[in-house]
Amino acid sequence: MIKLDENDDFWKHFFKNPKKAYNPYMYRLKEFPEYIMYDNEIMDSYKGRWNEYFKNDNPIYVEIGSGSGNFALGMCEKYRDRNHIALELRFKRLHSSARKSKKLNLSNVLFIRRFGEELTEFLGECEISGLYINFPDPWEGNEKNRIIQENLFSSLDKVLKIGGKLFFKTDHDKYYEDVLQLSGNLENYKLVYHTSDLHNSEKAEDNVLTEFEQLFLNKFQKNINYIEIEKIK
Ligand SMILES: C[S@@+](CC[C@H](N)C(=O)[O-])C[C@H]1O[C@@H](n2cnc3c(N)ncnc32)[C@H](O)[C@@H]1O
Repeated sequence: MIKLDENDDFWKHFFKNPKKAYNPYMYRLKEFPEYIMYDNEIMDSYKGRWNEYFKNDNPIYVEIGSGSGNFALGMCEKYRDRNHIALELRFKRLHSSARKSKKLNLSNVLFIRRFGEELTEFLGECEISGLYINFPDPWEGNEKNRIIQENLFSSLDKVLKIGGKLFFKTDHDKYYEDVLQLSGNLENYKLVYHTSDLHNSEKAEDNVLTEFEQLFLNKFQKNINYIEIEKIK
């Protein structure tokens, strides 16, 4: 841990009050300015004009909870004509994602330190073409804290294009069932695909693995659930 330097107010990007010591990876986010953004004001200034940031007109996809970035990098290598904004909270995971992006010399990915609940603060109207949420915390016993709930769709009402999709993968069977049920109650959205066994489905070939997914496959041989929900109006 790095000790607090009284003259350094970098922590203010992340915390309300100062701490005695900080995770060194917090400071190390500065090592990759081309791949990591942590200043909310700068993010918000790109609201409605992320294409200017990427310097192209390609569609923008967002990912919430990108972990150490394997899915984001896999998607960016596979779909060079898309831009990918990945939200993650953990400093070390952001740092690792950026380090790998630099190694691959990617120009269509950006990692931001931002809560998934804040999409409407930095994304403009109908600005994104899709949202990926892979293996989010199921919040067992505290389900009201889940990222996928009605509030998320209220945000997507604003920021997702019509015809755009939410893509959701989880190992958690109950979360999968709950999202299936929720999708039936949403006026502006349609469930277009679901399977409780992604790796033995027609979508398997196109699937890009996340770190958690790789772990579940290798260690536990757990079935992976997958859902696509499309915005129809
Ligand atoms: C279980 S991990 C899955 C990581 C990755 N998607 C994967 O499949 O390997 C969930 C990730 O979401 C991040 N996270 C949790 N809550 C979040 C939130 N509200 N906004 C953005 N990221 C969040 C965590 O820091 C963690 O890295």
